[in-house]
Amino acid sequence: MNRKDKSENLNERKEQAMHGGGERAIDKQHAMGKLTARERINKLLDEESFHEYDLFIQHDAREFNMANKEMPGDGVVIGTGTVAGRPIAIFAQDFTVAGGSLGLMHARKITKIMDYAMNMRIPLVGINDSGGARIQEGVNALAGYGEIFFRNTMASGVIPQISVILGPCAGGAVYSPALTDFVFVVENVSKMFITGPEVIKTVLGEEISMEDLGGARVHSEITGNAHIYSQNEDECFSKIKQLLVLLPDSNAEKAATVAVKNPKPEYSIKKIMPVNSNEPYDVREVIRAISDDSCFYEIQELWAGNIVVGFGRLEGNTVGFIANQPLVLAGVLDCDSADKAARFIRFCDAFNIPIITLEDLPGYLPGVDQEHAGVIRHGAKVLYAYSEATVPRITVILRKAYGGGYIAMNSRHLQADFVFAWPTAEIAVMGPEGAANIIFRKEITEATNPDEMRKQKVEEYKEKFANPYVAAGRGYVDAVIEPAQTREYVLHALSIAKNKTVEHPAKKHGIPPF
Ligand code: HXC
Repeated sequence: MNRKDKSENLNERKEQAMHGGGERAIDKQHAMGKLTARERINKLLDEESFHEYDLFIQHDAREFNMANKEMPGDGVVIGTGTVAGRPIAIFAQDFTVAGGSLGLMHARKITKIMDYAMNMRIPLVGINDSGGARIQEGVNALAGYGEIFFRNTMASGVIPQISVILGPCAGGAVYSPALTDFVFVVENVSKMFITGPEVIKTVLGEEISMEDLGGARVHSEITGNAHIYSQNEDECFSKIKQLLVLLPDSNAEKAATVAVKNPKPEYSIKKIMPVNSNEPYDVREVIRAISDDSCFYEIQELWAGNIVVGFGRLEGNTVGFIANQPLVLAGVLDCDSADKAARFIRFCDAFNIPIITLEDLPGYLPGVDQEHAGVIRHGAKVLYAYSEATVPRITVILRKAYGGGYIAMNSRHLQADFVFAWPTAEIAVMGPEGAANIIFRKEITEATNPDEMRKQKVEEYKEKFANPYVAAGRGYVDAVIEPAQTREYVLHALSIAKNKTVEHPAKKHGIPPF
């Protein structure tokens, strides 16, 4: 063959390999409202930036007459490219080839791109669309998953890892996404479960659809396994791009600084707090009133809504916001919200992202359900995660800061760098009503008008403790500030904390209350 023929031969081979499972399988994929692996990659990456590797890989399935079966690329596409000009590594399982099932070489491609991502210290995006372990390859398929899980764990806290569930992700395969930092799901497309409907029917005799068992809504609202929900794949890719630009490439860097934009005037912080201290308000309004351009990228928006977590920017730099949400369950801490906050704190800390905590917390959710679900263990995760975090940590107490919740929400006592309080702050061991009932029980029961006496004692307690000045008097609060001064104080604190250095005692690792 001369040089021209060789080039033509390469092009032919490429075209064939890139055709995946063929016309019919691609049509079936599209008919299900799904894109193909390469279409997905091109949607996410900057135009023409994708460089594919291992296009000509040969599969290793030999049993069950598989040796001569065509499985282009062994059902997965891997490569590198850029998002907003910054490099990422990516793999996308190709459902059109043997249902994207994972065999030995398929797994080797994934682990190869994971190793690239780790060695080059760039984010990894994995698009999952697969029937799971390739049944015909037996233990080789299981081995492949093990190799992936190990790498997910090693990469944790070193490079950002994003999983996108765009089809089935069944059986043990779910543990790769579960080990990564952010899981994206899409309505009607994502299906994620350990044991499928067939097994449930056989073992338990119960009928359930894949959607009801482990669809996008289930994982976004009930289990908390998913972090970002989208209505369709286009929306999903646009949200991944927005997240990637907020994050650093690795734990050795800080997120990129962008041009400063002031908060939008419609988010006036003065108007947000209700006059009555038991009335709810949306704490996201406070976040938007503080953050650059009033932008807030919320994580796990549909799950454990009593705490709000997500990213914004302050003076062009990425920060993580954690805020109690009075709109949901009055903003109490419970098992799920504690898990949500603790995990987010650890992500921010691992990737050099300062944490801003906005506190309005009446305490922990009381009840047998919570106690028996392990609220002690789950709640402890928040204390552990804050205490261990060495990034700049700033707390603003907006209103209630009662009891254990006061300590947990990045108090001075957990070594917060700065604690500010609004004049509306109420820092006390418990709410005034509960406190008055306990410490003035005798006076109240013996009074000729117990209701009147209770009211009087509640007021007395409020006067004495439900304000920021007792804490400020001990230096637990650094400054009592007007709400309108919040951005200015937080920006100044961040600039002071820029070179914060904290050394922990030498140890292999701590033992967090997992
Ligand atoms: C081999 C598989 C496969 C698998 C699908 N295919 N899953 N081949 N191993 N695990 C093949 C099908 O045979 C079919 O091949 C093609 O992919 C498309 O599959 P369909 O069934 O036609 O597609 P659909 O109707 O959309 O159903 C998708 C599905 C279903 C729900 C994923 O295929 C399914 O239930 N697959 C098995 C899921 C499963 O139990 N996997 C093992 C989990 S255990 P043809 O040639 O007909 O096109 C596991 C252990 C991992 O993963 C442990 C790690 C620790």
